[in-house]
Amino acid sequence: MGRWSRKVAEQFLEWLDPAPRAHWLEVGCGTGALTEAICGSAQPSSIVACDPSPGFISFAESRLGRCPATFLAVDADDLPRREGGFDFVVSGLVLNFLVQPAIAVGSMRQRTRIGGKVAAYVWDYSEGMEFLRVFWEQAIELDPSASHLAERHRFPFCRPDPLTELFAQAGLADVEVRPFEFPFIFHDFHDYWAPFLGGTGPAPSYVASLDTQGRTALMNRLKKRLVPASDGTIRLGARAFGVRGLVANRQ
Ligand SMILES: C[S@@+](CC[C@H](N)C(=O)[O-])C[C@H]1O[C@@H](n2cnc3c(N)ncnc32)[C@H](O)[C@@H]1O
Repeated sequence: MGRWSRKVAEQFLEWLDPAPRAHWLEVGCGTGALTEAICGSAQPSSIVACDPSPGFISFAESRLGRCPATFLAVDADDLPRREGGFDFVVSGLVLNFLVQPAIAVGSMRQRTRIGGKVAAYVWDYSEGMEFLRVFWEQAIELDPSASHLAERHRFPFCRPDPLTELFAQAGLADVEVRPFEFPFIFHDFHDYWAPFLGGTGPAPSYVASLDTQGRTALMNRLKKRLVPASDGTIRLGARAFGVRGLVANRQ
């Protein structure tokens, strides 16, 4: 997903339109797709980028050595503070993985200065991720018992109304949600299928649970379903939702 994480991070930052020299706190930086976009386009004074995975943190740190960023191996439950608060507290593609997103958004708000912004984005797992929709449509036709595993059932709050409510209930003002849309372009069928074989997440875990025969049957169905364009590429729609809110006062 890395190539598209960078794309959505860029669109998100365009939407935030931050003033230069801001102080940023990032929650769940992973290997640094959003951190890199902040460094590249927002002229930050500082970024504190956090993730609970020490492996991701050391990878991001070694990759983004030229960024004015400090990387910390900490959870959303244990976010650092800055005297006076951060200008922006942000998170990319993380909220749906948290056990208690409402508590995390509350902590993000507390770390933000009055007048600063809390903002995040998540993939639209319910309707907007065509590459997953096609995968599960075919998987479920072969194995109806898999239907509850699809991301759209597991992450129902990745939609405008629940996201608005999540931010409003955390006490944020002027809450806005907007979609970011672009195609996922796969070079060929192998480029589409390979990530399902080795990655983490609901769909790759499901593929790993199949025996060789089941895996081949699913692969063949998908191959038949995903008709490439004349140049061999497979183009599927993707959508994320960004959400942002203002810290208008200290609760
Ligand atoms: C899909 S990745 C997104 C990474 C990065 N922000 C990006 O846009 O590519 C989700 C990230 O959430 C992190 N994460 C999972 N649970 C978390 C938690 N409780 N607190 C903070 N981050 C968490 C994971 O370690 C992972 O790096």
